[in-house]
Amino acid sequence: MTGPRLRAGVVGCGPIAQRGHLPGLARSKKAQVVAIADLDPKALEKTAKRFHVQKTFTDYKIMLDEKLDIVHVCVPNHLHSRVAIDAMGHGSNVLVEKPLATSVEEAKQMVKVAQEMNVKLCEAKQYRYIPAVQRALRIYSEGRLGKLVSMQAQWHTDIPLTWSHAEWYYDPQKSGGGIVSDIGIHMLDLLLLFGGPVKRVSAAGGDYLGTMGFDTSVQALLEFSGGGTGFLDVSWLAPYSKMLDIVGTAGIATIDMQYYSLLHANYSRNPMRDFFHDARKIMRTARRVVNKDFFDSLPALYAALIDDLADSITSNKPPPITGEIAIRALELKEAIYKSIADKREVLVVA
Ligand SMILES: NC(=O)c1ccc[n+]([C@@H]2O[C@H](COP(=O)([O-])OP(=O)(O)OC[C@H]3O[C@@H](n4cnc5c(N)ncnc54)[C@H](O)[C@@H]3O)[C@@H](O)[C@H]2O)c1
Repeated sequence: MTGPRLRAGVVGCGPIAQRGHLPGLARSKKAQVVAIADLDPKALEKTAKRFHVQKTFTDYKIMLDEKLDIVHVCVPNHLHSRVAIDAMGHGSNVLVEKPLATSVEEAKQMVKVAQEMNVKLCEAKQYRYIPAVQRALRIYSEGRLGKLVSMQAQWHTDIPLTWSHAEWYYDPQKSGGGIVSDIGIHMLDLLLLFGGPVKRVSAAGGDYLGTMGFDTSVQALLEFSGGGTGFLDVSWLAPYSKMLDIVGTAGIATIDMQYYSLLHANYSRNPMRDFFHDARKIMRTARRVVNKDFFDSLPALYAALIDDLADSITSNKPPPITGEIAIRALELKEAIYKSIADKREVLVVA
């Protein structure tokens, strides 16, 4: 894309705007922030200063009159659909934080409005932009792993308190659940990206300690319609881990999503191959530590996502992560919660 950068506005100046969207926009060659909105005037002032934004609004609806090309929706989950629908109603394209909405029903309404207004509705699932994930997808799509046998998506991390002090994260009505609606939705997206539609789900877990009132640890077995299985393992209680394994009949791709490392093992694994893999991992990690990307990896991933969305707007192509893709992950989330509640297998695709 050549020409002026698209004009973006950001609604919500919390941690994801500060650490993902605004630094991503600062790096983007295709879009730039021109306005921000937040209910909290202090957050607004601090953010405007940090990211050199001229126009600030305590009422996002007034900001929407700025004729923005893209509105970034970075508010709590239960407000996504309202803010996104208002922005689309003003003719703006939207980049909505994950999960797109708290329910499939809400998300379908958002897709309908995007179609009616002829604007792009895109969800922020930035982990698709980890270079090792993209490389694995290329290798897999070229058939170099063979036919899918199984996948494992594991993410264990701290409870959101270390990220945000907001309380809505722990209210299932506002968050759309607990861990599956939060970090689980990212991993479900990756399972769907490689595995395709899911036929059946069987899940266990929930409020593991029995004292929290929301689910903190969930495991789910997915049966893909095209063959093969996927295993989701997310926990806010277990020690840190962020891995994706794709096992095919001809090879295995193991992605360490923290170190951006991809171990692509064929039957011809040998010590030299392992040596070069480890050497590359050390070099890559050293580079990422020096340029601080290792400790703050979100800006680069968001910049790539924003640039793709900007391209889709200027060339009138589907956005990188469509509403339909988001709905498939939400359907899966709802099936997982149903399976846990009813203690039985749940059919997803009839
Ligand atoms: N993609 C990711 O990896 C990732 C990571 C963390 C959070 N998120 C998502 O990003 C969203 C925001 O998360 P967060 O941790 O920044 O939340 P937060 O609650 O800490 O911050 C949200 C901000 O929005 C503001 N806000 C609330 N209602 C508003 C309104 N009506 N108008 C304007 N501003 C309003 C709040 O004042 C606050 O500053 C959530 O949907 C969350 O799920 C995504």
